[in-house]
This record gives sequence, C-alpha cells and structure tokens, in this order.
Amino acid sequence: MFTKLAGVAGLLVSLAAAQASTTQRVIPTLSPQVDAAPSLTPTVYDPVAPNAQQCPGYTASNPQNTSSGFTADLTLAGARCQAYGNDVNDLTLEVQYQSKDRLNVKIYPKHITPENSTQYILPSSLVMQPEWDGKTTAGDSDLALTWTNEPTFQFKITRSSNGEELFSTYGHVIVYEDQFLELVTNMVENYNVYGLAENIHDWRLGNNYTQTFWATDSGNTVDGNVYGTFPWYQETRYNAGGNTTSHGVYARNALGQEWLLRENNITYRTLGGSFDLYFLSGQNADGSSSALTTIQQFTQDCVGVPAMQQYWTFGFHQCRWGYENVSVLQSVVAGYRDANIPLECMWNDIDIYDLYRDFTNDPNTYPSPELLAFIASLHANGQHYVPIVDSNIYTPNPDNASDAYAPYERGAALGTFIRDPTTGDFYIGDNWPGFSVWADWLVQSSRDWWTSELAKWYNDTSFDGIWIDLSEPSSFCVGSCGNGRLNENPVHPPFLLPNDPYQANYNYPEGFNVSNATEAASVTSAAASQASYLASHTLLPVPVTTTQGRTEPTPGVKNLNFPPYVLNAVQAGHSLLKGTVAPNATHNDAYNTTEYYMHNLFGYQISNATYQALLAVFPNKRPFTVGRSTFAGSGRFTAHWGGDNTSTWGSMFLSISQALTFMMSGLPMFGADTCGFSGNTDNDLCSRWMSLSAFFPFYRNHNVKATISQEAYRWSSVAEASRRAMSVRYSLLTYMYTLFYYAHTQGDTVMRALAWEFPNDASLAGTYTQFMLGPSLLITPVLVPNVESANGVFPGIGEGTNWYDWYTLQPVVAQAHENVTLSAPITHINVHVRGGAILPLQAPAYTTAETRANPYSLLVALDESGQASGSLYLDDGESLVQEATKLVQFSYTNNCLSTTINGTYHAAPPLANGK
Ligand SMILES: *[C@@H]1O[C@H](CO)[C@@H](O)[C@H](O)[C@H]1NC(C)=O
Ligand SMILES: *[C@@H]1O[C@H](CO)[C@@H](O)[C@H](O)[C@H]1NC(C)=O
Ligand SMILES: *[C@@H]1O[C@H](CO)[C@@H](O)[C@H](O)[C@H]1NC(C)=O
Ligand SMILES: *[C@@H]1O[C@H](CO)[C@@H](O)[C@H](O)[C@H]1NC(C)=O
Ligand SMILES: *[C@@H]1O[C@H](CO)[C@@H](O)[C@H](O)[C@H]1NC(C)=O
Ligand SMILES: *[C@@H]1O[C@H](CO)[C@@H](O)[C@H](O)[C@H]1NC(C)=O
Ligand SMILES: *[C@@H]1O[C@H](CO)[C@@H](O)[C@H](O)[C@H]1NC(C)=O
Repeated sequence: MFTKLAGVAGLLVSLAAAQASTTQRVIPTLSPQVDAAPSLTPTVYDPVAPNAQQCPGYTASNPQNTSSGFTADLTLAGARCQAYGNDVNDLTLEVQYQSKDRLNVKIYPKHITPENSTQYILPSSLVMQPEWDGKTTAGDSDLALTWTNEPTFQFKITRSSNGEELFSTYGHVIVYEDQFLELVTNMVENYNVYGLAENIHDWRLGNNYTQTFWATDSGNTVDGNVYGTFPWYQETRYNAGGNTTSHGVYARNALGQEWLLRENNITYRTLGGSFDLYFLSGQNADGSSSALTTIQQFTQDCVGVPAMQQYWTFGFHQCRWGYENVSVLQSVVAGYRDANIPLECMWNDIDIYDLYRDFTNDPNTYPSPELLAFIASLHANGQHYVPIVDSNIYTPNPDNASDAYAPYERGAALGTFIRDPTTGDFYIGDNWPGFSVWADWLVQSSRDWWTSELAKWYNDTSFDGIWIDLSEPSSFCVGSCGNGRLNENPVHPPFLLPNDPYQANYNYPEGFNVSNATEAASVTSAAASQASYLASHTLLPVPVTTTQGRTEPTPGVKNLNFPPYVLNAVQAGHSLLKGTVAPNATHNDAYNTTEYYMHNLFGYQISNATYQALLAVFPNKRPFTVGRSTFAGSGRFTAHWGGDNTSTWGSMFLSISQALTFMMSGLPMFGADTCGFSGNTDNDLCSRWMSLSAFFPFYRNHNVKATISQEAYRWSSVAEASRRAMSVRYSLLTYMYTLFYYAHTQGDTVMRALAWEFPNDASLAGTYTQFMLGPSLLITPVLVPNVESANGVFPGIGEGTNWYDWYTLQPVVAQAHENVTLSAPITHINVHVRGGAILPLQAPAYTTAETRANPYSLLVALDESGQASGSLYLDDGESLVQEATKLVQFSYTNNCLSTTINGTYHAAPPLANGK
C-alpha cells in the first residue's frame, strides 16, 4: 500500500508536529526535492521524434534448415539510422516450429556471448523459455511462416489449414538497435485484442491505445503502466457464419516496452533485449480455434500453470492500513463474528512494524507475545493471519548504535544488495522506514537470506501467508539518494501522510451527493475549507524539475537512465528514474546486470523467493503469497491484488476487466481491494462491491489509513449484502476449487469473459459488465450508484442455452440478445446458473473448514435436452504434493445421475441430497 498525496506545496506547518501526531516520534522529513527527476517528452507524443520505420531494415541470407525449422543471417540493409540507439549490424533469425500449435521467431545479435553481450537476452533460468517438443516440423504445424527480402526482410504467420494471416510485418521494416527494437504487424479492420496485462482499461483494448510496460508504484492509473508486465495478447475474429477464430502472440522480453494499438496495425517497441515471439494457433483437435484454447496454450506452454492454492485462501479476507494495535484487530474479528459475516483471514498492513522495518513488530502496539496469542486464537477458530512484507530493507544510521537493524546487517554481510554504480557500494534509496536497500534476487545467497529472515520472523508472527508490497520496486527518491546521508536515518518520506494535518480525505464515491445529501454537503464544505487553507499555505516544497530534451544515440554508448526512446510512463516527467531504483543500478551476478534489464522482474523474483521461503517454513504446504508487481509466469508463485484502487464506481467496474486479463495470463488468484483502497467508500458502493468481489477468486476488503472504516459490518445493508453474497460463494467453494484444479492442471480460466464461453456471439466482444465464474455461473453486478436494478444479457438463448436464477431456481425467460432489466435491491447480486451444469454444493458455514465439513449436495440444472454434467475435485486442501486426490465426474441423462471417480482421496462428508 502506498498512496501519494497530491497538491501540497511550500513549507509552513510544522512537520515535526505532524509527525508527532502520526508516529509519536519526531524524525526529519526528507525534502521532496530528492524525488525530482528531469521531465521528458514521451516519444509517442513527441512531434519531432524520429520515425524508426525510415530505418533501412535487414536482408536475410544463408538460410539453413534445422530439425525444428530454420535459421538465417540478417544484415542491416543500409546505413545505420540510429533512431533510438545504435543499430546492430548482424543478426541471427531462428524459426522453430516448437509444437503443433506454437511457432517461435527469435531475432538476436549474431555475435553474442554472455561475457561479451551487446544485448541482454532473457535467460531461461530467470523466465521460462518455451522449447521445441523434439518432433514438430513445418509440415505438421498449425502455423506457417513465410518471408521475403523484397524490399527488406519481412515475415508473416498464417494458419496452415486455410491461409488466414495472423501476423505480418509486410510493408514495415524491422528495427534492431541496442536500446530500441521495433516491429510492426498489420491487423484486420476493427480487431479484437485482449490482454497486455497489467492495465486498468477496457477489457477489449481497442485500436487507439498505447500500453506501456514499466513497473511503477503510482496507484491504479487508468490507461497507463501499472505494476505488472504480461507481454502477450489474444486476438478473436468473428468471421462470417459463426466461425470465430482465435490466436495469440507472446513477446518474451522483460525490458521497458510499449505496444501501440492503432487502426490497422500494432507496433511493438522495447528498450532493447531481443525479439522472442511465440505465435499460438489457438487450435483444437478439430481444427477450430478458440480464446480458451489460446489461453491454455499460453499458460501451459509459455509461462507455466498457476500455483494451486490452499483451500482456506478462498475465504474472505479483511485488511486495512490503520489497524493501530492488536486490540483493534481483535475488535474487527469480533465485529465480523457478531454480525455473523464470515471472516477467514485477518491481515496487517505496515502498522505492525517497528519503525516501518520488515520482519519487526512494534513493541508498543504489536508486541509479539500479544500478537502470537491473537493469531493462536484465530487459528483455534479455523481462521488465518497474513502480514505485509515490504520490498525495501532499512539501512541503519551508522552514528547511532541503538539504531541497529539485524536483518540489514545479516544481508549486508553477504554483500548482495543491489549496488550503486557510482560508488560500487549498496544502492540506497528511500521508502517507509527511511533510507533503504533492496535484495539482489539474482544471487542465491540473497534468496537464502530472505528465507532465513522470514523463518526468523515466523517465530514472532505466526503467519499463514505473506503479502509482498512495493515490489516495482518502489523508492521515494531518485537515484541512490541516501549516499553519505545515512546519519539522518530514520528519515520521514518526502511527502505527507494521510493523517497529517490538512491531509483529510474528503473523496467519496460518485452518487454520494444523491444517496447521502446531508453528509455530502458537510463533506463538500470541509473539503472547500481545507482546499482554501492549502491554496494560501504551502506544507512541503514542490520539487524543482528540469526539462530534458531528447537523448541522441551515441556510438558505443548506452544511456541506461535516459534511453533515447522515452516511454510514456505515468510518473511525473515520464522519467524511468522516478519512483523506483535507477536503471543504472547494478546486480552482483557475474555480469553485473543492470536494473535497466531487471526492473520489470523485481516483483516476479521477490515473489519466487518468498514462495521458496514459505516452502522452507511450511514444508510441502502450498505457499500463499500475494504480490503487487508481477511478470508473465508469476502465477506459478503468487496471487495478486489489483493494487491501490480508489473507492469509486469506476474503479470497481474496471476491476472486472483487470481480473479478466489476469485470468487469461496464468494468474487466476486475483482480486481487487474491495470497497476501494484510497478515499472514503459509502454504504451503496461497499454493498455492491462486497457482492461483486464474492465472485473473484481472491476476496479481500482493504482500506487506506485516515478514511472512514469499511469493514462489512459497519453498515446494515453492507452486512446483509455481504452475508448473502458470501453464502453463495461459500456454497460454491468446492466449485471454485475445482476450477482452480483445472487452471493448475491445464491452464483453464476461473472467471471468464462471456465472449470466451459464447465465442460466436460478436455482440459480446467487449462485454465486461457481466462475467462468468467458470463455465456455469453468470454474474450480473450493479455497477452504478443509486439504482435497484441491473441490466444484462443471457447469452446463448435461442441457440440451445437456458439459464436459471440461482436463488429461485426459476428458468430465465428472455429473448436472444435481449438487454434484460433484473431486480437488484442493495443486498442482492444476480447470479444465474447455465443449463447443463451440475454444481456440487455445501451448506455455507462461518469458515471454509466448517463449510468443507458439511455434507455435499448437487445442483443439477438441466439443459434443453434434459442433460447436465459437472465435476468435483477433492484433496487435503493444503499439500503441495498430495498423497491422494479424487476427481468425480457427474453426468445426468435419461433421468439418471451417474458418476465416474478417479483417485482415492477420502472426503468425510457424505453426499446428502440433490436439487
Ligand atoms: C566478443 O564478440 C565479438 C564479436 O562481436 C567476438 O569476435 C569476440 O570473440 C567476443 N569475445 C568474447 C570474449 O567472447
Ligand atoms: C485516440 O486517443 C487519443 C489519446 O488518448 C485521443 O486524444 C484521440 O482523440 C483518440 N482518437 C480517436 C479517433 O478516438
Ligand atoms: C472460417 O473463417 C476463416 C477466416 O475467414 C476462413 O479462412 C475459414 O475457411 C472459415 N472456416 C469455415 C469452416 O468456414
Ligand atoms: C499504423 O496505422 C496508423 C493508422 O492507420 C497509421 O497512422 C500508422 O502510420 C501505421 N503505422 C505504421 C508503422 O505503419
Ligand atoms: C547512475 O544514475 C544516477 C541517477 O541518475 C546518477 O546520479 C549516477 O551518476 C549514475 N551513475 C553512473 C555510474 O552512471
Ligand atoms: C524459532 O524458535 C524456536 C524455539 O525458540 C527456535 O528453536 C528456532 O531456532 C527459532 N527459529 C528461527 C528461524 O529463529
Ligand atoms: C450515509 O447515510 C446513511 C444513512 O443515513 C448512514 O448510515 C451512512 O453512514 C452515511 N454515510 C456513508 C459514507 O455511507
């Protein structure tokens, strides 16, 4: 968690007083000047930026067949153009028909050894690299590659069966420079492209959109770069005659990059590295293709299937920044119990720490005996506990012996924190605790140290999982700003905190003025008075930034901090230095790899390290870790929450598209901060959001400090909406778990877009006002304030699909494509069951364990021909390697229910009855 507070300037209020009220300790505040970075013009908006398409391109020669495809030489076809870097003269093209459904095109410098690399090539030891299956050849691939040298090297990928063109650089040159790669593909009219997570944007990306990838801590910026990087998209084409096709493209490169989605083309640009493109046919055995198959091919074969989660993690989680002490946690747990709202897991944000330092407990507010007793009481009630771990490590003040901080000392002794290239010493940025360093995940000793620190902390804080925050990684200053200043530590961050004076948050959701006119009026006047105070007083100086012009490429030189190509990054001034560790910082591996190449992988690596650490603490237990910054493949190690969203209706709506892009990216354990993180929520929004998130895999309410409380029991309608939605969720926990089993074993999705389940209905191409949970449940949430109804469609009606209301079991009466208005009082969320489904159910109880001990029943929802089927996966709910599992397949036909059982796991509760 972290939210920067905008719009305060100058210096007047005594910050010492402000801090005294916040932390009871008077500590020096860093000047915001430490975070000033030169302001740059993003290349996409720069009218005088070079057009890289005027570069000469390459000529292919010397093609050589290999067992999996062919290779060729590519030679620069003219003078160097130096658009955004130094052109690489000689390249190798490598084409591999890796499997029937996957074709790989690699382009990388011809002269390359790890010791002597002009270009960073992402190693397979870091990020999974799909390989040839050892048998496929061009002749038996779903896909075909053709190329030409007229006028320069271009290639296209077509579907072998019918010649459908899926990707084509024809008409465009390939640009390959040390700090800039560009490739353009032609696209069909009005294309339907999805993915390129992480973004806060419409689910169908559209053809006037630029996706920037540069992990950043700046809230949920709409249409900009956020925390994660998943450079892959899936494309759907609605051809005539209900013959929809799908394919996918994964570009395995972790550098800062940009994808320009335009009317007739997509331009792919990176700040270096190599082209490593995987084309996925999306084809099924019968030759048809679909989005769901394309997603399986990406997840299973390109990045790896997501981790299976422990059963309890599907319960409801409560968190907030601002739980001052253990008694407050106790009162929240009691509040949920008294209101009979299921609570599975309590969380702590940074309040738990002593002076914001990782692996510590505040001796006054979170003394470990008291915390351990609290956690033991949770455990005794079948509940759980997860604390935060920040990505930074506090660096103690060398002049103050009482400031010693053992986790730092032990890490420093290994010498494996990220380094400052100027001094060769550790890179010292700034974060919550003050000047801080970051672990270097490229080095094994750093990862071992992490395991040992978490194991030690477990003795004081008997957690059930770990929440990793600030893994972009976030730094509150530019460069190694703590150099020579450690004697000022612990410094206060260079901005004001939510409960500092004149920082009251008066933001409420859209529609609050209608639902709560009186309160809205008083808030508006308080906000106006704060704004007028701030207009005439300045609390902190505004950083003085300078404007920096375009960097010209220089032969033999790479400018890591200011590459000639400027990403449209969301931080003020668009500088790569802002808000994070500088790109020129170095690692301790044999090549002293720089952050320029590692930046987007920090979150992926810390999650992997935490996964390994949890395995050491809990041998053979599936690690539960939730991380903020992620990369393609992160789903193997971690769950993810949507980051610092806001308490607004728009933020709630966009959480659905954010979820769908993660479902298709191999990271299904996703959820958004329910009721909204920043700002104040209200009764209306929080009721709707608690209902909506009940159908997301990861279900957590989380709130920023110094806003109104938003636990589900604070308002009677939120409480009732939550109880009702949770009773649906908990009845279906086993269905959710079975969906995860299929995600984990075959790359299936959990939440699903309507377009995936009903691929021939072009009207659903952009729909995310509704979604499905697995193949069988349709969720139609309320997404706007102050209404009592929701609109939605019932796809497939008229073409053999029928639907039933979850609550009444009554069949839905609707016309094909009809936009139906459904009744949706504040405590109700519409859930419909698709005909043809058999859903295993259990009576909902207070915890997942109690629910799981209840007898099973079956909901059999017949399709139009009187049939239905479904499945149920069972195991012990926590072991990484299971001794026994069971998969039960149900089918109902001719008034007769039959089951097929595989596996020997024994589930104690009986099958009670059906409905
Ligand atoms: C470095 O690369 C060049 C080609 O650019 C090659 O000739 C040379 O042998 C390489 N040196 C090492 C140490 O690998
Ligand atoms: C495309 O997007 C840009 C920037 O978001 C916007 O200014 C422009 O109006 C859009 N163009 C069209 C045709 O929608
Ligand atoms: C489906 O559409 C594609 C693209 O238009 C076409 O190439 C293919 O022949 C069609 N297949 C069938 C079975 O109609
Ligand atoms: C891509 O299409 C847009 C819109 O038609 C056009 O302006 C642009 O020049 C094209 N880009 C390339 C690289 O051809
Ligand atoms: C690294 O980047 C920082 C921040 O811009 C800069 O101050 C420093 O001089 C750079 N060091 C080197 C060796 O490039
Ligand atoms: C945790 O505490 C136990 C019992 O005091 C001790 O034996 C063990 O070494 C401690 N573990 C770590 C990692 O410090
Ligand atoms: C709005 O009004 C209701 C009913 O008077 C009240 O209980 C609630 O706390 C108010 N505020 C918010 C933020 O919902």
